[in-house]
Amino acid sequence: MARCRLCRNEGQRTPAEIYLPAHRLPLCREHFLVWFERYLERTIKAFRMFSRKEKILVAVSGGKDSLTLWQALTSLGYEADGLFIYLGIEEDSFSLLSRRAVEAMAERLSRPLHIVDMKSELGFTIPDLKKKTRKYCSLCGTVKRYYLNLLAKRLGYKVVATGHNLDDEASSLLGNLLNWNLKYLAKKYPVLPEEHGFVRKVKPLCRFTAREIRTYAEIRKLPYLSESCPLSEDATRPFYADIMDELEEKAPGTKLRFYLDYLRKALPLFAERKEEFLERELLTCETCGEPAVSSPCLVCRLKEEFAGAGP
Ligand code: AMP
Ligand code: FES
Ligand code: ZN
Ligand code: ZN
Repeated sequence: MARCRLCRNEGQRTPAEIYLPAHRLPLCREHFLVWFERYLERTIKAFRMFSRKEKILVAVSGGKDSLTLWQALTSLGYEADGLFIYLGIEEDSFSLLSRRAVEAMAERLSRPLHIVDMKSELGFTIPDLKKKTRKYCSLCGTVKRYYLNLLAKRLGYKVVATGHNLDDEASSLLGNLLNWNLKYLAKKYPVLPEEHGFVRKVKPLCRFTAREIRTYAEIRKLPYLSESCPLSEDATRPFYADIMDELEEKAPGTKLRFYLDYLRKALPLFAERKEEFLERELLTCETCGEPAVSSPCLVCRLKEEFAGAGP
């Protein structure tokens, strides 16, 4: 059994319990946590995500990624508060269990947690949407993005952080590359600046695999919910993720290289001609004042539709 590299640097000979193939790094459990937080700090600095002076709003779903992010940022001394959107998914008590997980986490960290209820804000839930349209799952993403942005502004935060990880980013990059989705390829960066009514959005876990994050969450015994959304319909995501896993298995480090080389080498080329690829101009919704591609925006139209439908 290999010995922990960081223990060795300190003159000790502890057996490693965790091996990180992409980094060729054998580590003991305590040093895995040290490595994880240092690497997170380096990622935040490398992409100029935010400084220690800024208050961060972490979008927490109750899953391993966002709870790990909240914990690690807090351990590093950042001022990070949580925001949870209650989507009203009763199947398998999903929303209820998710809310319990984020509440347990807030208590553990002694940090403020903002909870918004989709039904009272908008007049409908995700299951209500499901009864009306087959596109409810992608609308769920739209509503979440809309609310994260709106609430961050309402609550006075300048930065919103989400738990997207390397597996998410590499597999969606692969899917968009296979379809030559130039609009995506020209703007997908782990930091989106504050502009046109959007707050800054960051993905600090973009260099961590799902496996590394799970290991962190398990060592720290975070109260995360392992079940994913029971209504999730996106079948292509696991498909591309499986392909990336296979590549990673055969050639460790592929996910990280694929993603980082895209950011370094390919994105600047596509970004140069971004205006040509972006389909629609950004407007301001006349009803809610939020940035949108149509006016009234999609969320306002849904709100109107459900208000007209009665209880
Ligand atoms: P997903 O698209 O479900 O993989 O979620 C991606 C990220 O969005 C998560 O890591 C969270 O940061 C955020 N997120 C997802 N669901 C919620 C929710 N109900 N409330 C707040 N943030 C969420
Ligand atoms: Fe899309 Fe749950 S409805 S992930
Ligand atoms: Zn060690
Ligand atoms: Zn609107």
